[in-house]
Amino acid sequence: MCGIIGILGKHEVSPQILDGLKRLEYRGYDSAGIATVNRGQLDLRRAVGKLINLSDALVHAPLPGRVGIGHTRWATHGGPSVANAHPHRAGRVAVVHNGIIENFRALRDELTTEGAQFSSETDTETIVHLASQYLEQGVSPIEAARSTLKRLEGAFALAFLFEGEEDLIICARRGSPLCIGHGTGEMYLGSDAIALADLTDRITYLEEGDWAVLTHDGAQIFDAEDRQTNRAMTRINLDTARVDKSGHKHFMAKEMAEQPGVLQAAMGCYAGPGSTGITLPPELDFSATDRLIMVACGTAHYACQVAKYWFEKYAGLAVELDIASEFRYRDPVLGPSNMALFVSQSGETADTLAALRHVKPHVAQVVSVINVPTSSIARESDVALPIHAGPEIGVASTKAFTAQLQVLALLALQAGLQRGVLDARDFAAHLEDLRTVPGYVAQALDREEDIRRLSELLSRARDVLFLGRGVMFPLALEGALKLKEISYIHAEAYAAGELKHGPIALVDKDLPVIVFAPFDGLFEKTVSNMQEVMARQGKVLLISDAQGLAHAGDVPYQLQMPSVPAFIAPIVYAVPAQLIAYHTALHRGTDVDQPRNLAKSVTVE
Ligand code: F6R
Repeated sequence: MCGIIGILGKHEVSPQILDGLKRLEYRGYDSAGIATVNRGQLDLRRAVGKLINLSDALVHAPLPGRVGIGHTRWATHGGPSVANAHPHRAGRVAVVHNGIIENFRALRDELTTEGAQFSSETDTETIVHLASQYLEQGVSPIEAARSTLKRLEGAFALAFLFEGEEDLIICARRGSPLCIGHGTGEMYLGSDAIALADLTDRITYLEEGDWAVLTHDGAQIFDAEDRQTNRAMTRINLDTARVDKSGHKHFMAKEMAEQPGVLQAAMGCYAGPGSTGITLPPELDFSATDRLIMVACGTAHYACQVAKYWFEKYAGLAVELDIASEFRYRDPVLGPSNMALFVSQSGETADTLAALRHVKPHVAQVVSVINVPTSSIARESDVALPIHAGPEIGVASTKAFTAQLQVLALLALQAGLQRGVLDARDFAAHLEDLRTVPGYVAQALDREEDIRRLSELLSRARDVLFLGRGVMFPLALEGALKLKEISYIHAEAYAAGELKHGPIALVDKDLPVIVFAPFDGLFEKTVSNMQEVMARQGKVLLISDAQGLAHAGDVPYQLQMPSVPAFIAPIVYAVPAQLIAYHTALHRGTDVDQPRNLAKSVTVE
């Protein structure tokens, strides 16, 4: 959330900062801004809304300079406005910031009493006033930044730029990710390596509490105790860091289309063709685990909800599941035989990370399923299992969801084998089922034209209800979430059997009801609930396979999925959930990749 970039360059940096911000825009798009120092003068440009507005502002009023910082904002304190946009400036210092300064009210009161004039509603502005005050006392910029950091509470990443200093950026990381890029006679910093992909492949990830002094020649890194320290430089694969739409209209469309390849790749990493077992770190041992605690947010949480069925069914393992923002504020009973499993695409979600830190001292092992192997959640886990989905830029998670499911399914099978619940034959049969997922997902994607037509009807609805039973219930939840976030249609999901306990009162002739029901052991029960909806004139869209559709009889709207083994059905049925949301949003003309109010990588609590 919020994207930060900084460049100490050999040439004009504004165009490069703007390019980097384009790659970071998925982290927030309420406003954007750039500050540079040119001939000693600190200056900045800011604009509300998408980056194109900042780009236009720079055409009218270019911002020269060979050192600069930039920011894309997802608003927390204060709405989207030029005054609240970053960089913020007071006196000789400008700052860009991601995260929340929790003690900003106290600092603001103190600074106001001392005469500081605030011009925004942000927490960030306290940082520039503090630093400016230190500079006024005659200390060096490095000392001013160091003293300012000591006064801040909360989780943040930030960068300072100083008037009169054309060879200096100071940055700090506490809770929010930040990395340094190494060039030749140039240095960079970014919220993630993606921001720097066009500039360098040599990256140093800052550790929690680090702060760094960057000049054109290099970086001096200090830890939370201000001791100078060394952090490794790694070479990243630029191909996996580059982001483009590859001819698709949206990142979301590209990422949905990538799913067969992504799932094949994930499978190849854990159980390549011909292998009879699953290759996982040897220390990952479920045999002595008495309870699996799964924690995540949003779509990743729905992946966990599907996996709960798998771990219970195939591994006989008791699962406790919670959303991270709730989990950490209750008093979960934790024990030394528990394993905790965290699922996160970004690996930086603040609530999930906080929940991980909360359980770590109390459980046997902390495992994570992540897409970004260098992320905080990955680094703080005992075992981190990548899903190998590549960068996901569309704000609505798609390929990460199916890849999370694939890896969680592999884990459930491994747990089943280790715990003696699955015998070798059943294990092998289920592993074979998982190998067929990419092909079935490709077949599900082929139904896009049917889904496009059906979505037209949905695009006129005020509310939509999603129903499912068993593993299809989390799919219904995921379908409703996708529809809400990108089409802005109110959608709810219910366990099909729960409908008659209240929500059926909502059903009338104007309510589309989408039912996920493959022809499995729960099919007849789900179809009975569907009939109850149809008896009240609800407009049902049944998503099932050929057998299911034949058995269901007369249903107003139908979508045929391939017939797949029950085990893998949730991965395949994720595709219509995604495509329905995508095409409904297209019919409504909303911004699919950057829906209002949202941002990818939620690094605030
Ligand atoms: C919805 C979506 C979000 C994320 C959630 C967790 O499409 O993308 O609900 O799933 O914010 O994010 P990660 O997986 O990065 O922890």
